[in-house]
Amino acid sequence: NNLRVYRTVAGLRAHLEQLRSTQTIGLVPTMGALHQGHLSLISQAMAEVDLVVVSIFVNPLQFAPTEDLGQYPRQLEEDCQLCQTMGVDVVFAPSPEEMGMDTNTDVTSVTTTAVMPPHSMLSMLCGAVRPGHFPGVSTIVTKLFNIISPHVAYFGEKDAQQLAIIRRLVADLNLRIIIKGCAIVRESSGLAYSSRNQYLSQEEREQSLALFASLKQAQLAFAQGERQANALVETVKQVLALTPLVQVQYVDLVDPQTLTPLEQVEDQGLLAIAAYVGSTRLIDNVMLRVR
Ligand code: PAJ
Repeated sequence: NNLRVYRTVAGLRAHLEQLRSTQTIGLVPTMGALHQGHLSLISQAMAEVDLVVVSIFVNPLQFAPTEDLGQYPRQLEEDCQLCQTMGVDVVFAPSPEEMGMDTNTDVTSVTTTAVMPPHSMLSMLCGAVRPGHFPGVSTIVTKLFNIISPHVAYFGEKDAQQLAIIRRLVADLNLRIIIKGCAIVRESSGLAYSSRNQYLSQEEREQSLALFASLKQAQLAFAQGERQANALVETVKQVLALTPLVQVQYVDLVDPQTLTPLEQVEDQGLLAIAAYVGSTRLIDNVMLRVR
């Protein structure tokens, strides 16, 4: 079973059109620089659908002008090699031009009609500090959905706000796509895999372990009965304060579906962090569930 790589919408569509009537299609959208987190989404897709499409596209729409679009790792050869080894059927790796945008655009100056998530889902967590990010994600994911028409699409819980926004997008726009959320994959150190981990120096990498350590501390407090958002958030912040290279951007406890802030956990809560470790921005989260 050989990997097919498509660079154009027309080529990909022509290939999928013949197979669609007999095969279920699963989409794993990525920005490449594939790691164990991506590979677990791919494995889950391979176990559940007949034909797996991995998209690899560093989406200019979701980067602010001050962010790392230019530096973001691009390693298509290696990524295709990995996909081939995994038994992926199709890689879709379009150019920015093929996706209808030039490389310098951002979502506030788009050449593309933008898909706007509800304001209530943008006012917290990453949405609050990266204003164009989720409109950019929603727009590109909608384009990928329309290009590929997958039956199922796979997203990581690592990007919990993204997952909640995509679920809402699918519901609001009546898309016939099943969205599957996949558990966070971590190194044995506890650090969640991220393409941006490549930016970390040795010292930063060591200090970045504080992110998950702080969340585990809050998990422990939660297991011992703590339900108040203030206390849980404070626990995280206190652990992070011990690590000088870690600069907290936010620590929030929200409802995992609506993303609205919680004062206390009734049923479940998403406890999420964004922090700079040196100049690298990392995110992580845990789900706190009663029972
Ligand atoms: P990217 O950061 O490449 O991530 C692609 C998918 O892999 C996302 O669904 C993300 O949540 C998941 N993922 C990343 N690290 C993970 C980990 N450690 N464990 C589990 N899943 C992990 O997210 C994007 O790209 C983009 O925003 C995209 C959806 C492709 C739109 O451009």
